[in-house]
Amino acid sequence: MKSKKLIIILFIIFIVLIILGVGCYFFYNSKILKVKIEDNVKVNIYDEVYNTTYIKSIKNGTLLSKKEVVDTSTLGTKKVNLEIKDYFKKIKKYSYDIEVIDKEEPVIEFNDKLSTTSGIEIDLLSDVKVSDNSKEEITPSIEGEYDFNKEGTYELYYVAKDSSGNEKKEKFVLEVIKKEEPKPVVVNNSAPVSSDKTFTTSKGFSGYTKNGVTYIDGVLVANKTYSLPSTYGNGLTSETLNAFNAMQADMKALNLNIWLSSGYRSYYDQKYIYNNYVARDGQTAADTYSARPGHSEHQTGLAFDVNQINSSFDNTAEAKWMSDNAWKYGLILRYPKGKSNETGYMYESWHFRYVGKELAEKLYNNGDWITLETYFGITSQYNY
Ligand code: DAL
Ligand code: ZN
Repeated sequence: MKSKKLIIILFIIFIVLIILGVGCYFFYNSKILKVKIEDNVKVNIYDEVYNTTYIKSIKNGTLLSKKEVVDTSTLGTKKVNLEIKDYFKKIKKYSYDIEVIDKEEPVIEFNDKLSTTSGIEIDLLSDVKVSDNSKEEITPSIEGEYDFNKEGTYELYYVAKDSSGNEKKEKFVLEVIKKEEPKPVVVNNSAPVSSDKTFTTSKGFSGYTKNGVTYIDGVLVANKTYSLPSTYGNGLTSETLNAFNAMQADMKALNLNIWLSSGYRSYYDQKYIYNNYVARDGQTAADTYSARPGHSEHQTGLAFDVNQINSSFDNTAEAKWMSDNAWKYGLILRYPKGKSNETGYMYESWHFRYVGKELAEKLYNNGDWITLETYFGITSQYNY
């Protein structure tokens, strides 16, 4: 009887313990920290992502980590670390991975129509720019067949692929056109030799022509109206060269670099240059930037070109400095901008002419250059 009672008591204790155990288990389980993060997180390179962006929920805990940006500037797996305080006030470290990938294709900037003359190879990639969100350097390639020696229209593709395998293809057309046989250049190249005379300009300056060379107010003038005989000239004059050298030295001290690209040109040098331009661009165009033989200031020995003889010189520090200071050396910017109807030539930032300091200062006119033509009241027009 007694042992039966004992068994019942033990059984009850056993049941109570089990109930307590199960209760504790469920209680503990309900208070355990549970962090849910989005699965398989993939973000694009340079996306704005925070350490907290992909937390779906935190159960039984509070996030201690501050909101921070995750570096997504390189491709690959990034570990994001978090600190969380759980229900039992314990600080737990938690981490998850995000994968930084590049999902975007590169962007190709290009010209969709290129053309050349058969037999002349051109660089099909010279104007092509590729950019990519990964900021990597991508060299584009060309897909398709073409032949620079065979006339035709070729449909080709620029292809650019980034290191993540995103590929972009852009169509362009290459036209290879028939080579034109060069037309014989028929230009009357002989400048008429002006006969001796004296005259007064529209601004009242007195001028004269002697042995085919014209002086106005003592200044030698060569332009489209006033020519030089084919035998005139034998190099830069000493005043011109001294002016150039002095200016070059002063500029050097300011870290500005100029060199003579073209100084004296004989009548025959000019004839060769001019005829080449006429063959290339036609006479009307050539006349806007190149003097006919016998009309070039380079033949006077008083003019020279510096550095790049094209518009790439225009905005250089050297061009700006010379436009503001050359007058101090007796030099003028001979073909200023916007004055082609006066000088007969387009703007030449690189062409300077020696006239002496006094006249140079007047023509400089505090930066608003006056042309020789306007100052003297003369024209610059061919009469043949
Ligand atoms: N480029 C200038 C105008 C010349 O040919 O003399
Ligand atoms: Zn020149």
